[in-house]
Amino acid sequence: MTAAVYDRYGLPEVLRLAEVAVPEPGAGQVRVRVAATSVNLSDWEGLRGAPAYARLGGLRAPSIRTLGSDIAGVVDVVGAGVTRFRPGDEVYGDNLRLKGGFAEYAVAAESALAHKPPQLTFAQASTIPQAGAIAVQGTAAAGPGSRMLINGAGGGSGSFAIQVAKLRGAHVTAVDNAGKLDHMLRCGADEVIDYRSQDFTRCGPFDLILDLVAHRSVFAYRRALAAAGRYRCVGGTVRSLLRVLTVGWVIGRATGRDIGVLVVTEGPAQFTGLADRCVAGDVAIHIDQIYPLAEVSQALAHVGEGRALGKVVVQTG
Ligand SMILES: NC(=O)c1ccc[n+]([C@@H]2O[C@H](COP(=O)([O-])OP(=O)(O)OC[C@H]3O[C@@H](n4cnc5c(N)ncnc54)[C@H](OP(=O)(O)O)[C@@H]3O)[C@@H](O)[C@H]2O)c1
Repeated sequence: MTAAVYDRYGLPEVLRLAEVAVPEPGAGQVRVRVAATSVNLSDWEGLRGAPAYARLGGLRAPSIRTLGSDIAGVVDVVGAGVTRFRPGDEVYGDNLRLKGGFAEYAVAAESALAHKPPQLTFAQASTIPQAGAIAVQGTAAAGPGSRMLINGAGGGSGSFAIQVAKLRGAHVTAVDNAGKLDHMLRCGADEVIDYRSQDFTRCGPFDLILDLVAHRSVFAYRRALAAAGRYRCVGGTVRSLLRVLTVGWVIGRATGRDIGVLVVTEGPAQFTGLADRCVAGDVAIHIDQIYPLAEVSQALAHVGEGRALGKVVVQTG
């Protein structure tokens, strides 16, 4: 089968198409004939080997040669003990542990997958699992009237997070670069901030902050929070994440705020509810571009270089 592979961390040029063996599912796994795989920032981080946490699976070289977590496709073969799926089922899910979606076939744990709603195309379904889980968990504390800020809101997770926070009744301020402000307003943001010209930590106070790309000091985050406010980051520089976990926690406790890192729980229960809201028309899926498998490097660059409005999808076959 054809797969996009890489043997060393680097820019998209390190990716190449290769003919590799079709993977065999083990016990509790299924093989999926991939129809579409959406690109997440985590794919870009895995390609670059940066931030440092992206090298957890391989310090010097990637241990998994084919990226691509958010897969959608048709079950081809089921491994021993699989009970929820059979060949021919249309499925989607976040295959973050095994990856392999930028290929014609991928193997995934049964527990990572859900049945694809027939109303969604494979491309649409592939946009939901990882970004949707981040958006749903990152906005879980939002409620009517809460002032919520989402930093990095123009990307995949942010586009969903704005909409979910609005559905929960929050007043949403969305932060990203100037090219994404209109997009964030279309997603429903009440106010938008261009991070290159304005410092959001001086625009508060906010009751809730969801930070998809933490770069700032914990003192800046503390400044942006209202009394009893809550800050959660899901990604960013290792330095920022470590500071949030340590100094941030202490400062939060000392000042009546709650500052921490959101470790996102994986699995179908985290994203199927959002998919239902997409089917119902309550939440829109924003696909910026669809690339063929042969152009997976361009797809990753489009996300990694910050040009994507919403999600980017790689279509196989
Ligand atoms: N905690 C967990 O368990 C977990 C699990 C999975 C993923 N993650 C993380 O969750 C995050 C999800 O991101 P995503 O997939 O939504 O990424 P994305 O689609 O690339 O969106 C990130 C957005 O942030 C913007 N941005 C970059 N630098 C910024 C800055 N300094 N200030 C404000 N905005 C900035 C980017 O635009 P420009 O670059 O154009 O400015 C982009 O629009 C990733 O960091 C990923 O590693 C966490």
